[in-house]
Amino acid sequence: MSIFTNHKLALAAGFALAAVILGIGLAGGNAPDMGELVGGLSRWGHFLAGITWIGLLYYLNFCQVPSMGGLSAETKGELFKADSVVRRVMWWFRWGAMFTLIFGLILYMGMMNGGGTSGMPGWDIRIGGLFAIIMWFNVWFIIWPAQKKILGIVEGATAEEKLALGKRALIASRTNTILSIPMLLLMASSAHFRLFG
Ligand code: HEM
Repeated sequence: MSIFTNHKLALAAGFALAAVILGIGLAGGNAPDMGELVGGLSRWGHFLAGITWIGLLYYLNFCQVPSMGGLSAETKGELFKADSVVRRVMWWFRWGAMFTLIFGLILYMGMMNGGGTSGMPGWDIRIGGLFAIIMWFNVWFIIWPAQKKILGIVEGATAEEKLALGKRALIASRTNTILSIPMLLLMASSAHFRLFG
């Protein structure tokens, strides 16, 4: 069956199954009001985008980057070309970051307006959100612009420039890896065990 061979169909099948589950839940008499539904679906979107982003951040930091050093320039050229694994990672990585931010801001606004289950925003989510926004900035304004030149999507960078950009992107990426761990603690504590009120 093509849902087992085509990743886009597998993705669509997951959303279709979720829609069926949602429909059954709503029809079962437990329908939330519109505000709760928007908040709940935003939370779900936030998790989906967040695991996509942070999953790929950990893949990059713990798997891809440590294994790149030993590869020849020819192999790197193959890995960096259009439709390659590295370009696909960068696409899901940066859009994962963007949608995590968008859904996170919707959740934050919902809290400000008194919606949701965890009350008004406190310091946990302010600090956690700040860490995550710094991480989002690093993805869109440091890592991705550097990667565009390193991968050859934007042409014309010299070998020395690419080396310097690689170091800059690595520092931003490692910073994000470090920040991600307390950031997730604060995302969790905000709704379940506030540490800072
Ligand atoms: C990009 C900026 C981000 C903003 C503005 C943001 C904002 C928020 C807000 C407002 C909440 C609701 C907190 C509450 O109900 O008390 C939340 C929850 C959450 N966020 Fe984020 N977030 C961001 C990034 C991330 C990232 C990168 C992840 C990684 C997966 C993440 C994971 C979570 C989780 C797991 C929760 C749910 C906590 C729970 O309900 O148990 N967030 N976020």
